[in-house]
Amino acid sequence: RQQEKIRNFSIIAHIDHGKSTLADRILEYTGALSDREMQDQFLDSMDLERERGITIKLQSVRLPYKAKNGQEYILNLIDTPGHVDFTYEVSRSLAACEGALLVVDAAQGVEAQTMANVYLALDNDLEILPVINKIDLPSADPERVRQEIEDLIGLDASDAVLASAKSGIGIEDILEQVVAQVPAPSGDPEAPLKAMIYDSLYDAYKGVITYIRVVDGSIKKGQKVRMMATGKEFEVTEVGVFAPRPLARDELSVGEVGFMVASIKNVKDTRVGDTITDAKRPADAALAGYRRINPMVFCGMYPVDSSDYDDLREALEKLELNDASLRFEPETSGALGFGFRCGFLGLLHMEIIQERIEREFDIPLITTAPSVVYKVYKTDGEVMSIENPTHMPPSQKIDYVEEPYVKASIMVPNDYVGTVMELCQTKRGDYVDMRYLDANRVNVVYQLPLAEIVYDFFDQLKSGTKGYASFDYEMIGYKASKLVKMDILLNGESVDALSFIVHQDKAYHRGRLFVEKLKELIPRQMFEVPIQATIGNKVVARETIRAQRKNVLAKCYGGDISRKRKLLEKQKEGKKRMKAVGNVEVPQEAFMAVLQMD
Ligand code: GTP
Repeated sequence: RQQEKIRNFSIIAHIDHGKSTLADRILEYTGALSDREMQDQFLDSMDLERERGITIKLQSVRLPYKAKNGQEYILNLIDTPGHVDFTYEVSRSLAACEGALLVVDAAQGVEAQTMANVYLALDNDLEILPVINKIDLPSADPERVRQEIEDLIGLDASDAVLASAKSGIGIEDILEQVVAQVPAPSGDPEAPLKAMIYDSLYDAYKGVITYIRVVDGSIKKGQKVRMMATGKEFEVTEVGVFAPRPLARDELSVGEVGFMVASIKNVKDTRVGDTITDAKRPADAALAGYRRINPMVFCGMYPVDSSDYDDLREALEKLELNDASLRFEPETSGALGFGFRCGFLGLLHMEIIQERIEREFDIPLITTAPSVVYKVYKTDGEVMSIENPTHMPPSQKIDYVEEPYVKASIMVPNDYVGTVMELCQTKRGDYVDMRYLDANRVNVVYQLPLAEIVYDFFDQLKSGTKGYASFDYEMIGYKASKLVKMDILLNGESVDALSFIVHQDKAYHRGRLFVEKLKELIPRQMFEVPIQATIGNKVVARETIRAQRKNVLAKCYGGDISRKRKLLEKQKEGKKRMKAVGNVEVPQEAFMAVLQMD
């Protein structure tokens, strides 16, 4: 049976350990891409991904492989995103597989993300095949890394392939192991259809293209299907596989990986992790593991030029077509005017969306500092979710506030343990555990408020450890904290877009630093501008921006006109990212300054 010749697998790795390079080598080796088609890192297809060297959107590819035993196999390689913001998506694409290649850098060894990915693979009962990559490096120490994989992960690494994705060493061995050790898909071809959605993509011509793994039964053109989470029904207009270009097929049968098109208008109807079933003969229960994922980080996005408001809405609507986890709704700020409150899976997700709006849609933005979602328990019994610090009720109406916490694992050479612990303490961390991984590496575990990670935790960790620390985290829920809202007044006017929520013990310090920073960032105006930080009605810090002495243009008085024009041009350029708040011009950086406070 065909099912027995299918092998569905992913590649998991810490960032930079060579996942994409290995995927390319595998594509090349199996002849899936002709030389002419071969472009560097085929699986990472978005420009932004390529620039940042990370994988955002998952993709998959079907590879024919003739094994040494003379048999033809179908290998489906499913790519996974490489960032903690997208953990849920990683877990679903792993759920579409029976096996995973665990790529570990032969010089770096096991890192925090390696562990996190291994846990996800184990949760999904995958057969894990370790691959020690980059053995061509002079600093490679494959035997040490083999031992590390055994000690830290508890996997038998005696058969781990020693590979160099760069030089194409070990590729055949890897594919042979996939064939021999990854189990064939076990679904029932006669059972009612169950297919799991592991990604989707909006196409202007076809509507939503849904990436699926058929778990039971089969799916064909013309079939009426139902999405089990939403109950919505669609008629399948096309199914096919990625070879690696999309290739239409009559049907996808049990165990196969491919795509479905069904005149679906909105990616929100194709939720990652949801089960597609037959509308006439539905399955009893959906596949396990589906979750509705909610945005973790919110910020305000405002057009610099308020006449761009409608364009910004359109841009967000377009991006949303392709991004089921992006959320936005209109928001009005006294300081910034009309804009949108946007929700993201994490900071990277947020940066990607901002960059795309500015690059692809050419709309200059003012974005406010990202905020997590606070739970506010009011004295009258009401519980509020606060995504925008401005909406925090007055303190006398608050019983207590909870904030989201994460469990962070940090792997670091033992010389830096002190630095890491100190950093975690300043970030209000609660110590959980510390374990020696080997003679000179330590795994430090802390519970930390997500808000502190949203601030510059990662940058500080990197710089404090000279780049040696690796870091991963998972959400663990909400905990009560003593939090207060800090308001900022410019020229006596409260600026809603500058408000932030801060822990009581840090409030004075942060208020002081923020006000100083604003003084640096806000250019002098024609008049004196006092800046105040307040909690409730109490002023906790104050600075004054002195008035500008004379008009810059005065310098040009009597000078030649072209020079004057140039100067005006330059000022306009600089003003692009300025927003008039009352009668004070505030630059973009001021709204983000709260992120760099410690
Ligand atoms: P993300 O997509 O960011 O998760 O990274 P990745 O794991 O896909 O790593 P990628 O394939 O982009 O490789 C990271 C870097 O390591 C690149 O500069 C590669 O050229 C390099 N690299 C990958 N494999 C090898 C190898 O076998 N030997 C050497 N020397 N370098 C390699």
